[in-house]
Amino acid sequence: MTPATLLFLFIFVSTNALNISSSDLQLGFYNSTCPQAEQIVHDVVRNRHILDPAIAAGLIRLHFHDCFVRGCDASILLDETPSGEPVEKESPANGSTLRGIEVIDIIKTIIESFCPATVSCADILAFAARDAAVLAGLQHYYPVPSGRRDGTISRAIETLDLPGPFATVEQLTEKFAKKGFSQSEMVILSGAHSIGGAHCPSFDRRLYNYTAALRQDPSIETVHAEYLKTRCPVPTSTTTAEASEAQKVDFIPAAETSLDGSYYAELQMGRGLLASDQVLMTDRRTRTVVERMADDRGRWARKFAKAMAKMGWWRCSQGTRER
Ligand code: HEM
Ligand SMILES: *[C@@H]1O[C@H](CO)[C@@H](O)[C@H](O)[C@H]1NC(C)=O
Ligand SMILES: *[C@@H]1O[C@H](CO)[C@@H](O)[C@H](O)[C@H]1NC(C)=O
Ligand SMILES: *[C@@H]1O[C@H](CO)[C@@H](O)[C@H](O)[C@H]1NC(C)=O
Ligand SMILES: *[C@@H]1O[C@H](CO)[C@@H](O)[C@H](O)[C@H]1NC(C)=O
Repeated sequence: MTPATLLFLFIFVSTNALNISSSDLQLGFYNSTCPQAEQIVHDVVRNRHILDPAIAAGLIRLHFHDCFVRGCDASILLDETPSGEPVEKESPANGSTLRGIEVIDIIKTIIESFCPATVSCADILAFAARDAAVLAGLQHYYPVPSGRRDGTISRAIETLDLPGPFATVEQLTEKFAKKGFSQSEMVILSGAHSIGGAHCPSFDRRLYNYTAALRQDPSIETVHAEYLKTRCPVPTSTTTAEASEAQKVDFIPAAETSLDGSYYAELQMGRGLLASDQVLMTDRRTRTVVERMADDRGRWARKFAKAMAKMGWWRCSQGTRER
């Protein structure tokens, strides 16, 4: 997003079209001000998805990273802010591995031509993540209330609110609890890792440098570990950061993946890609949720949709969740 767009959002969207003091998100917030908004989002996401199905994972992750840091305020999209400090997308949590921002930019440009200064980027991202989830195979559509305001603050340091790929069950539970999610909701949202993938640096320590005593993470099923080693060769002194970041491995090693909760069966087989995925099998309570979701994917889809909708309620500029 360019500085000009930022200024535009800052001046118009935050003060004009969206009533700052109105408290709740509403279904059909743009019914009268921009009735075509949701359809435009849907059409663009669908067209991009036809060209590149991987975009769905990118959009869902973007919405998660947006909502977990300062609420769903599109702060993840900002290239720079008035304060000049590093923005969210430049953080280690991050940055070069986020996909789909350009799709939001395209949608925003089209919507602006129909309804200038009306629809927030945060709402566009929330709609786009929902549409992406359904296009990626989520068997449960969920309505997305709107009326989010775009923020103008984006601080890389605040991405510490996001869990990292080596988080323990305790850390994962705590980070989600801070945003109002139960431990089961944390496990259910992690099922997003049924699509997309991770770059080698996000997990290759599990293969070569797990702990001082163990080279390899013993929770990785052995055949799968050999497969992962072929995908992420041992980093050498000549391996550049760019080279290892260039290598990406799918969460689910199948020709076609779908947002169907197949993640949970992978965990049961010891094939979770990130340490923070597989660790859900080590705790009795999270393992129970994994087992239930693996057994009933329809139930997972409903619960995932519900948790995604809930994630979208986390708003900017307010310390508390609004209902
Ligand atoms: C539970 C804690 C979570 C951790 C520790 C985590 C961590 C990560 C990491 C490290 C990556 C790979 C980054 C890379 O190397 O390219 C990733 C990818 C992804 N995450 Fe998560 N994540 C978590 C939860 C979630 C949630 C709640 C969602 C959405 C609801 C989500 C959606 C995704 C998606 C779709 C991808 C694939 C992105 C792509 O292929 O472009 N994750 N996650
Ligand atoms: C903004 O919201 C407040 C409280 O909900 C309401 O009283 C006011 O009329 C609204 N203003 C506009 C311009 O919609
Ligand atoms: C927008 O229209 C839908 C469907 O007719 C309705 O359910 C919703 O309440 C409307 N929202 C607003 C804010 O008018
Ligand atoms: C992403 O994080 C890595 C460290 O994990 C960092 O070296 C890199 O600069 C970050 N990328 C961006 C675009 O900020
Ligand atoms: C192994 O991991 C430790 C800490 O996790 C790190 O300090 C060390 O540099 C790593 N060694 C290699 C060879 O990557």
